[in-house]
Amino acid sequence: MEIRPTTDKDLDVFVDTLHAAFGLFPETPVEGGGLWWSALETDRCLLALTADGRPVGTAATYPFELTLPGETLVPVSGVTAVGVLPSHRRQGVLTAMMRHQLAGLRAGGDFLSVLLASEASIYGRFGYGPATHTSELKVSRHRAAPALPRAGGAADARAAGSVEVLRRAECGDILEEVYDQYRRAQPGALSRPHRWWALRAGQPPISPAPRYVAVHRDADGAPDGYASYSIESGTLTVDETVATDDDVFTALARFVLEHDLVSQVVFKHVPPEHPLRWQLADIRAGEVSGVMDWLWVRLLDVPRALTARGWSSDGDLVLDVDDPFLGERDRWLLTVRDGKADCVPTDREADLSLDVRDLGSVYLGGTAPSTLVRAGHIRAHHPGAAGLADALFRAERSPHCLHWF
Ligand SMILES: CC(C)(COP(=O)(O)OP(=O)(O)OC[C@H]1O[C@@H](n2cnc3c(N)ncnc32)[C@H](O)[C@@H]1OP(=O)(O)O)[C@@H](O)C(=O)NCCC(=O)NCCS
Repeated sequence: MEIRPTTDKDLDVFVDTLHAAFGLFPETPVEGGGLWWSALETDRCLLALTADGRPVGTAATYPFELTLPGETLVPVSGVTAVGVLPSHRRQGVLTAMMRHQLAGLRAGGDFLSVLLASEASIYGRFGYGPATHTSELKVSRHRAAPALPRAGGAADARAAGSVEVLRRAECGDILEEVYDQYRRAQPGALSRPHRWWALRAGQPPISPAPRYVAVHRDADGAPDGYASYSIESGTLTVDETVATDDDVFTALARFVLEHDLVSQVVFKHVPPEHPLRWQLADIRAGEVSGVMDWLWVRLLDVPRALTARGWSSDGDLVLDVDDPFLGERDRWLLTVRDGKADCVPTDREADLSLDVRDLGSVYLGGTAPSTLVRAGHIRAHHPGAAGLADALFRAERSPHCLHWF
C-alpha cells in the first residue's frame, strides 16, 4: 500500500473516496460557498492507495491554534476526513495512515494533535484520549426566563450593553472577530482560521445556512458576544453562544429565553456543567442531554506538551508514560513552580503509571486523574498520588471546544 499527500490534480479523488467511505455523495457547489471540505489544504491530505493504484483511504489535518490552561496558545494539527472504503476495512489501512500521519506531524515539529471522533472506539489505540465534553441544554422558556440575573453585582456592567438581531448574511466580520476573542481565553478552544469564514466551510454559523444572530455589544458598542439561532415549531435552537465573559453569556441567554412564540430553547454545544442551569429559578427547567466526548487530544512530545500549558498549583509528580502505538515508554519528573512546569527524564519512583491516551484526557484539566485511577486506567503507586495529580492538572476554567471540523 502507498500513502502519499494529494496534489491539486487529485483532491477530487480524495473528496470522492472520503464520501464513499461514509456512504455519502458530495454536494454540488453553490454560489456563496458552504462545502465543508473546501477548507482542506491539499498538501495536508493523505491518500492510501492499493498496489495497483486504487484509492481506498483518506486522512487529513487542519492547522489550528489550541488554547491551553493558562491562556497559552499553541499550534496543533486537527485530524479530519478519516475514511476507508467499506471494501477495505479491518485490513490495517487506517493504522498505516495513522502511523504515517503521526510521523509526519512529529517531523514537522508538532507536539500535540487533536480530533473529533465519529465513534469513540476508534482512536484510543492510536494514543488519543477524550479531553473535552459537550452537551445540549434544553430549557423550558416559561419556567426559566424570570430567574436569570438582570442586574446586580458584576452583571451591572452589562446593563449598559445591548443586543441587536442581524441576519447571518449581515454580520460581516463580527462573528469571526468575536469568536477569535472568545477562543483565546477559553481552554480547549480552537482557532477558526480566516479561510473557514471566507469559504463558509463548516457548520452554522460559519456555513451559509440562514440564521438570525443576536449580537451583544458592550457599552461602547463593541461586539462582545453572539448567539446564532433558528426557530421551528416553537423551539428556538441556538447553534452556538459565544461570549467573551459570563455576563455577556447571561445577557444572550436572557435574550433568547425571552423570545416570544417560543416554548423551549435548545442551547447546543454547551459544557455539561454550564452555570446557566444554576441561573434558572427551577433547576429542573434545564435538561442536559446528548453528553458526549468532543475534542480528543494526543501528546506527540510529552515534555514539550507539559511545559507548554499553565499550571495553577505547585508540586512534583513522576509519571511513567506508555505509548504503545509509537513503541515508547518514558519516566518524567514534572516540577511545577509559579504556574510553570519543567519536565525532565528521571529514575525516581513513579507516582502514576499511565497510557499516553489517558495523559491526553487529563491534559486540558477537563477530567481529574483520580477519575481515571478509579476507572482502572491510571495506576497510582501510593495513596496521595491521585490527589496530587488532581491538584496539579486542574484548570481554573474547565476546557471546552465549540468548533466542528
Ligand atoms: C474507522 C475506519 C476509518 C477504520 O479503518 P480501518 O482501515 O478498518 O481500520 P484498521 O483496519 O486500521 O483498524 C485498526 C484497529 O481498529 C479497530 N477499529 C477500526 N475501526 C473501528 C471502529 N469503527 N470501531 C471499533 N474498532 C475499530 C479494528 O478492529 C482494528 O483493531 P485490531 O488492531 O485489534 O484488529 C473505517 O471503519 C471507516 O472508514 N469508517 C467510516 C467512516 C468513519 O467513521 N471515519 C472516522 C471519522 S472520525
